[in-house]
Amino acid sequence: MGTFYLDERPIPFEEGEYVIDAARRAGIEIPHFCYHPALGSLGACRLCMVQLEPAREGDRPRNMASCLLKAGEGMRVSLKAAHAVDARQSVIEEVMTNHPHDCPVCDEGGECHLQNMTVEVGPPYRRYEGAKRTFVNQYLGPLIWHTMDRCITCYRCVRFYQDHALGDDLGAFGSRNRVYFGRHENGPLESPFAGNLVEVCPTGVFTDRVYRRHYSRVWDLQTAPSVCPHCSVGCNTLPGAREGSLRRVVNRANRRVNEWFICDRGRYGHRYTEVEDRPRTARVDGRDVSLDEALDAAAQRLSEAADGSIAGLGSVREDMEGNAALRSLLAVLHGWYTAHPNPDLEAAIAEAAALSTQAPTLAEIGQADAVLVAGDLTGHAPMLDFAVRQAVRVGRPLVLLHTGPAPLARHAQRRRQVTPRELLGLIETLCATAEGRVEDDDLAALLEPLRGARNRVVLGVAETLGAPGCRALGQLAGALGARLGFALPNANAFGTALLSRPGDSERVLESAESGRADRLIVLGADPLGSGAGAGRWAALRERLNFLLVLDCVRTTTSEQADIFIPLTAFTERAGTFVNYAGLAQGFARIEEFVDQTGRGDHPANPFYAGLGPVGSPLAPHDGHLPDAFDAICEIGRRMGLGRVQRNAEILAYQFFNEPPTPGRTGITVDAAGFAHLRDSAAVDYRPPPEPGGGWQVVMTTWYGDEHLALHAPELQSLAPREGVRMHPDDVAAHGLDDAAHVLLSGPGGRSRLALIADAGCPRGTLGLSRASMAVLGADEGDELTWEASA
Ligand code: SF4
Ligand code: SF4
Ligand code: FES
Repeated sequence: MGTFYLDERPIPFEEGEYVIDAARRAGIEIPHFCYHPALGSLGACRLCMVQLEPAREGDRPRNMASCLLKAGEGMRVSLKAAHAVDARQSVIEEVMTNHPHDCPVCDEGGECHLQNMTVEVGPPYRRYEGAKRTFVNQYLGPLIWHTMDRCITCYRCVRFYQDHALGDDLGAFGSRNRVYFGRHENGPLESPFAGNLVEVCPTGVFTDRVYRRHYSRVWDLQTAPSVCPHCSVGCNTLPGAREGSLRRVVNRANRRVNEWFICDRGRYGHRYTEVEDRPRTARVDGRDVSLDEALDAAAQRLSEAADGSIAGLGSVREDMEGNAALRSLLAVLHGWYTAHPNPDLEAAIAEAAALSTQAPTLAEIGQADAVLVAGDLTGHAPMLDFAVRQAVRVGRPLVLLHTGPAPLARHAQRRRQVTPRELLGLIETLCATAEGRVEDDDLAALLEPLRGARNRVVLGVAETLGAPGCRALGQLAGALGARLGFALPNANAFGTALLSRPGDSERVLESAESGRADRLIVLGADPLGSGAGAGRWAALRERLNFLLVLDCVRTTTSEQADIFIPLTAFTERAGTFVNYAGLAQGFARIEEFVDQTGRGDHPANPFYAGLGPVGSPLAPHDGHLPDAFDAICEIGRRMGLGRVQRNAEILAYQFFNEPPTPGRTGITVDAAGFAHLRDSAAVDYRPPPEPGGGWQVVMTTWYGDEHLALHAPELQSLAPREGVRMHPDDVAAHGLDDAAHVLLSGPGGRSRLALIADAGCPRGTLGLSRASMAVLGADEGDELTWEASA
């Protein structure tokens, strides 16, 4: 540590730190364009000029770019010196000569860094009267709008897109005063992180195309600190609503989680809250009714049930509070609770969570000396993939083990692709090789990039690995002395593992199949429409006397409900998600936050209003939706079970020292919680199925492939073509071509799909999307038969 002086104010700095960074830490923002806290310094714009006072008598003061000037002990710099002020003003005047001055119609208005800097630095008037430089804009897809005339050539966009996100379809073209930032041709940006251009560009070149469709000014948005509901990373976000609709989501920096960026699933997946077919009306036996009527009917039908005859299925995409309320209701009714329709996935989540005591943060992954990844991180937890890219971009080796296509494959120094059923064996043999129990030159070479590294990280995808694979990966991480983390399904898988017991999922299924439970409550899940086990749940549906579904989206299961209760989406309620590392983070209801802060003067979203704070009795009105916690506690109250709510409040935070506060960093699960997870993980696994000679299913995920984001139209318009993917050699060996169709048969049904040759699938496998797997009732690694179809 040392001290330098900025206009006589002492500023502490660390060895090697730039003046602009140290000043920022001290709360002083030196004007800048090309510098960005996450992207670092470039020295392109010269707006950050300060005057460096001479160290020796007789020397002259010099203007220096503070983003390239390393702080030194006793150094004296000035922002206020006349020469520095002149230099910064000349930079502003120069960039504004060509700027279109279209601020009144620019979506960046109100949060434009160029505007801010112009106001702060000056000059306030424009002297240039010549013609302005203009460009042709590009079509960049459904998510990003392009207005190149506003560019100030700071290079932040390409530095983010190419250097940090490792994308290669956006670049800088041209030279001197005509540099163009765009694609080589019109077309959607391909990176799953492209939406960050909206935030890194300091002016309005890249703006949010979805947001700009409805007139809105950013200062009119009602916002509240929130947490992304679309995967287990739990990125911190700031959603903005206006006039009753959620307009956009932007990043909210949290050093323990996502720092400066979010993925496009998180930025655009929120559109599920606004789609036309979002269910907003309660239903009883196919009839639209008031919420009050539906709650009464639900309480009535559950009250009629025999003791112990009710089962409940919570959800990895519902918050702690909703799941705890369901578990509490079922405990009082001596019923059965699980959050997982699939026992194997439940076991995988419990195993992965139990092994995540030291899960690395995104920043720690980015600083790793070497990374091993098992599975496709991009499709399951995009910002974990982004964190790996930060290690790769500084030359750290990535070793990848994968079954299906994986975008990280092109960045891997070593990789091995196997079929889903070979993955466990591969990890176990790698572990034996790392421990010296097996000599295998091939596998030793695969591990070689990890050997010299001191700070190793191992990351796995729980859904791909299954419980045995997660356990084996844990052993491999132990053998390598690596930090270990897992991408878990949806936003709250870790939290639901804390609320579950070993084998809950199988117990719920068996209780219903045996007829002991004949009434089922489903909260925020789609057991009848999601992949493996869907056939088992469908058969079970026939036996049920009563199905109650509570959800915020329309699903196969909600369509078959006897009673349906629509719920709030994530910005319309407060709640808690526990992320992949066991970090519990609160998110706020927008209306509630506006009430607290007094900000926002637009009519409230009807979905945000009318209900009391969490925990108060429901005062339902038509059009006002409850959150899961309120709805279930209210059903309990109407059944005369007041203790449901009190027990739920205890359950939701039992493994945390206190409930997390929205906007704060988060609270990590305590030692008792990890002990509970270790016990939960000690379940017997079903043995892997015997090979039957069929073709193994490989799941082909993509970053928009998540249960809520699947309802976001603009994001889904970028989805890969639906079909069955086969290795090109398999396609040729069967005399087929890309125009062929294939008829597939699985336990859940048959499906005719277009054939797509894809070298990303191993030979002898069928690459299928989640949607196709759901139709066929197949899980990854299951064997299917197929035939060519006319
Ligand atoms: S497009 Fe934006 S981020 Fe890129 S160089 Fe221009 S002003 Fe900078
Ligand atoms: S990585 Fe996950 S939590 Fe983060 S923004 Fe993307 S979908 Fe949301
Ligand atoms: S911010 Fe320092 S040169 Fe651009």
